[in-house]
Amino acid sequence: MRYKRHRYFIAERVNLIQRSKIRELFEKARKIENVISLGIGEPDFDTPDNIKEAAKRALDEGWTHYTPNAGIPELRQAISEYYREMYNLDVPTDNIIVTAGAYEATYLAFETLLERGDEVIIPDPAFVCYAEDAKLAEAGIVRLPLREENGFQPDPDELLELITKRTRMIVINYPNNPTGATMDEETAKAVADIAEDYNLYILSDEPYEHFLYDGAKHYPMLKYAPDNTILANSFSKTFAMTGWRLGFAIAPKDIIRDMIKLHAYVIGNVASFVQVAGIEALRSPKSWEAVEKMREEYAERRKIVLDAIKEMPYISAFEPKGAFYIFANIKETGMTSEEFSEWLLEKAKVVVIPGTAFGKNGEGYVRISYATKKEKLIEAMKRMKKALEEL
Ligand SMILES: Cc1ncc(COP(=O)(O)O)c(C=O)c1O
Repeated sequence: MRYKRHRYFIAERVNLIQRSKIRELFEKARKIENVISLGIGEPDFDTPDNIKEAAKRALDEGWTHYTPNAGIPELRQAISEYYREMYNLDVPTDNIIVTAGAYEATYLAFETLLERGDEVIIPDPAFVCYAEDAKLAEAGIVRLPLREENGFQPDPDELLELITKRTRMIVINYPNNPTGATMDEETAKAVADIAEDYNLYILSDEPYEHFLYDGAKHYPMLKYAPDNTILANSFSKTFAMTGWRLGFAIAPKDIIRDMIKLHAYVIGNVASFVQVAGIEALRSPKSWEAVEKMREEYAERRKIVLDAIKEMPYISAFEPKGAFYIFANIKETGMTSEEFSEWLLEKAKVVVIPGTAFGKNGEGYVRISYATKKEKLIEAMKRMKKALEEL
């Protein structure tokens, strides 16, 4: 069979979506030998064995059919128990929908709650999907600058200034991608108060909640503004399950009901045996031991990168306490973030992501991911140091 046409009409809403700029850099890197990528945003670990075994068992036991759209009741129950144990929060199962990762949870929230003419406040820099989801929902995008001197946390006064009559939602993501920043309790409370005062939704994307270092704590927005918060969460990072596509959203019951309506026609339900494995992930001490081991390993790698950067000229790093990213300041090199990333790839064969991939305010920074084996990280740091010393 051969297709004869080369041009097709594509709807404007999809034309508006930007393909990730990161992709181009990866394409370039693929053609160069011996490249070390610190560009990856996913755990290099394998999913813990007990979770894999649970999925295999589920298949053998006949978990091969449709499930309720919102997810199997036992998994929703396990998610509810998890919030009770972890944060002492009571989340009824009716307030939970099981989704294909945090991506879907976020998409459903935007589509369900925003419409043409609404405004959504998205931090800058921020993970790439929020702005694209906003475009699909035809909402106006207002960017809230995050600054290194504030530890890349939102400044509540600046947030207040951006609110108009049309503002409907604020996006919050801590621990943060791309900066690795965590949010302190005072800021979480301030954002919650603003959301309550101005009747705004908070889309709080929290997939890195377990990757915390140097005694940092996570403050889930759900705790401070339950009526306003749509929480997006995921098994992807916590249990190294990116390929399984398992996540969930928690929100007021009426909102979840409408998110389920949309989800029912797009995804139907997350794969049944994947959901069963999710119950094992949340309930078995074995998976939590594995999570702690991963966290300890990330903590060591984080130190390797931060210590190495201190020895390099022209580059410095704010010491982030979460996720697995360092957002390094490269302003002293005189290069733009994109120039720096290209230069580093050519000169040192190391991939880092230009900060501008996450918004205009990412100019002057590059994102370094330490979700990479220690030996490779050490080698990458050596190469970076040499390249910078020769600059
Ligand atoms: C902040 C953030 N949100 C959401 C996602 C998507 O995660 P999931 O695999 O759960 O869809 C990612 C993945 O990199 C992320 O970094």
